[in-house]
Amino acid sequence: MSGNADELLSVSGLPPGPARSAFVSEPAAIPAGIGALLVSPRAYATQRELLAGFRWLRGHNPLGLIEVEGFDPFRPVTTYADIVEVSRRHDVFRSGDRANTLVPKATDRLARSLTGGSPHLMRTLLQMDAPDHPRYRQITQRWFARQSVAALEGRIRTIARGLIDGMAARAAGCDFVREVAQLYPLRVTMAMLELPDTDEAHLLGLIQELFRSQDEAPARDGRASRDPARHAQRLQDAVMEFDRYFAPLLERARRSPGDDLVSQIANAVIDGRPIGRFEAVSYLMVIVTAGHHTVGSAISGAIWALCENPDELRKVKSDPGLVPHLVEEAVRWTAPVQHVMRTATEDVVLNGRRVARGDWLMLCYLSGNRDEQAFDAPDRFCIGRDRSRNLAFGYGAHICLGQHLARLEMQVFFEELLPRLAWIEISGVPRRLASIFIGGPRALPVKFAML
Ligand code: HEM
Repeated sequence: MSGNADELLSVSGLPPGPARSAFVSEPAAIPAGIGALLVSPRAYATQRELLAGFRWLRGHNPLGLIEVEGFDPFRPVTTYADIVEVSRRHDVFRSGDRANTLVPKATDRLARSLTGGSPHLMRTLLQMDAPDHPRYRQITQRWFARQSVAALEGRIRTIARGLIDGMAARAAGCDFVREVAQLYPLRVTMAMLELPDTDEAHLLGLIQELFRSQDEAPARDGRASRDPARHAQRLQDAVMEFDRYFAPLLERARRSPGDDLVSQIANAVIDGRPIGRFEAVSYLMVIVTAGHHTVGSAISGAIWALCENPDELRKVKSDPGLVPHLVEEAVRWTAPVQHVMRTATEDVVLNGRRVARGDWLMLCYLSGNRDEQAFDAPDRFCIGRDRSRNLAFGYGAHICLGQHLARLEMQVFFEELLPRLAWIEISGVPRRLASIFIGGPRALPVKFAML
């Protein structure tokens, strides 16, 4: 997972470039291979060439237009500063006007035909803009505030201990992703939504079905999806399954409302009218899914990196005060959300470069997190960086609603694991997800000894 940036550049065959200037008046033409990398799930799984491609873009043409067959043209936003700026100006760069992840044209067409014109198969906060976005976000804002999620700490700790006890019983080895990291956020979310333990396998199946539509086994030509139509259809099927699961829960919470999160959503009033079924189901769906893979990925990404950087593991084991730094570095390093899309609503100049109305912008968090202008030695996993510079939870109006919960989950997990861990090492071939959207390990075989 580690590697220095010059080495990465030579791997990709791209020329190392001059230091980035503050104002790029004559940006260099983007080598054709870079566009292909940005849409290739396989490139995200292997990462070396992709990171070199991002470095080239940051240094030479950070907002250049990319045209790849099968996709509408898009502009990758690759520097930390530009990602912050685009996210901050959410009135100009909107989330809902077009697909909010980079999808092939065929997927977009199918989504629109299934929905009667909308590019979105669900309607969550992620696809909304003002004035709806703040109204819907308001419904659960209090629930996800730092002080509110702190009340869940005891339950989260019990869940973490249970999984770590289970790990101790499998010291001969386990797949850390499947047997530990995936289950942890699922159990936390289920506790938060007060869902019965007996639903665990069903809910995990639903989430995995949704992710299967993202994590395509890479096609031989490395394109985004072997079959874009199948991708959209799978997504649609997963949405319908979630609807079957959540609709009765919402109905029950409407009949006998409580203080719980499902009741808050079920009984929300938007602009004088009760929230619609589609929006309520979408809301629960995004809470369950957005918090599942991301937290699991950041934890398993950290374990992978700690195995490869034993000095960092020793450092954090000997100073528990560093655990919050480990949490931030885990999220920066792994970038569980690798990109989201925005659409420009007017002609603007961004950091000295022209962006036209209608342009589709790809906020490349994976690149922003490795920006050498924002982080020293960005390609090193290093515990103890400035925690305020983390971009992996997004920025601005759409900043991750679950960020405090996510941090608490990770903090508690490492607080429980590290004192009990004598040693840990990778015992097989770890693999990353083959997805341009969701990032992190998909398999992490490890051996370890617990104290
Ligand atoms: C390490 C863990 C996590 C990471 C890296 C992460 C990352 C992100 C990012 C980058 C966004 C911004 C998307 C955009 O600007 O379009 C976002 C939004 C969101 N996240 Fe997270 N997330 C994590 C955990 C969670 C958890 C635990 C939950 C809930 C239980 C959650 C719920 C949401 C929701 C609902 C949004 C949409 C917010 C909005 O559009 O207003 N996330 N997340």
